[in-house]
Amino acid sequence: MSLVDRLLRANIRSLTPYASARSETMENDVAFLDANENAFASNAPDALGRYPDPLQNELKKVVGKVRRISPDRIFVGNGSDEAIDLMIRAFCHPGRDEVMIMPPTYGMYEVMAAINDVTVNSVPLDAGFNVDLDLVRSRLTRHTRIVFLCSPNNPTGNSLDPEHVARLLEWFDGFVVIDEAYIDFSKESGWLSRLSQYENLVVLQTLSKAWGLAAIRIGMAFASSDVIAVLNRIKPPYNVSWLSQSVAIDTVGNPETMRRHVDQIIAERKWLETALSDLDVVESVFPSEANFILVRFRDAAKVLSYLRSNGIIVRDRSSMPGCENSLRITVGTPEQNRQLLDVFAAWEVTT
Ligand SMILES: Cc1ncc(COP(=O)(O)O)c(C=O)c1O
Repeated sequence: MSLVDRLLRANIRSLTPYASARSETMENDVAFLDANENAFASNAPDALGRYPDPLQNELKKVVGKVRRISPDRIFVGNGSDEAIDLMIRAFCHPGRDEVMIMPPTYGMYEVMAAINDVTVNSVPLDAGFNVDLDLVRSRLTRHTRIVFLCSPNNPTGNSLDPEHVARLLEWFDGFVVIDEAYIDFSKESGWLSRLSQYENLVVLQTLSKAWGLAAIRIGMAFASSDVIAVLNRIKPPYNVSWLSQSVAIDTVGNPETMRRHVDQIIAERKWLETALSDLDVVESVFPSEANFILVRFRDAAKVLSYLRSNGIIVRDRSSMPGCENSLRITVGTPEQNRQLLDVFAAWEVTT
């Protein structure tokens, strides 16, 4: 029995999905009288009057080419948050099953589980922010369906040790979802190339970070074609707008711009890491493989309000386990990064 057959919720297995009008054909030279659109408005050249491609085929081709993955292994969602939600909805029975998360990490795994009435089994990362394999093993239960990992991890910025992740993939008989929202900023190559090796591996990526398209809300899940087919069956029919698809096709089709921005961001990150480490108010700077830096201050609350009063907003992560007195600072433009350092310098002179 395949993993999907074993873990798919019975109500979803027996579901008759909504058959969207546009899933039958996307040809141009036919008269579309099937979807109750406004035929006058739909004569506009920009296709805004018509429902968009429900399966985002053209976008998947472009993403598949850049990431070297077959389109039938790609799900496109309304942000990767949608893929997190759908994975939980498809494979976790409400009120019975659980997901494992490893704090400190991205908050939406827990929120999505709670919305779906799925228990959250929270197993902290170890002191170096890596997967604590012994602890994980002792805490998995027969109801654990999905383990969520984030690499590079938000908010700590480190990549998880691939050896630990591989061992987890080998001995856990549920899904391991690896969220690679920040993978383009990392020196690790990520897990996409190992998809065919593990039927329980699901990789999430997003256009919100390196690709610079947070506003259009596009995230991807990469997995076996069986898992992708399940996600497509339960997603809202037109989950990604035509406007978003067309911007994404243009952007992902020209990855050079993304790579140039990533190089600049990494250079700025390195500069910021060094400059921040030299400040008296800073206790330590956690090494980052993302587009942000987690910084431990002597008094984070004071720094947070001082920066706020000088027009700089950063994210307080102090309440997360292992992140006491820590703020997460996104790498900005060179001007913004220098402004940040100038504001700190002015403070150090006056205190
Ligand atoms: C680890 C991680 N995953 C996913 C997301 C959200 O991605 P999207 O904008 O595609 O929903 C974020 C956003 O901050 C993130 O940090």
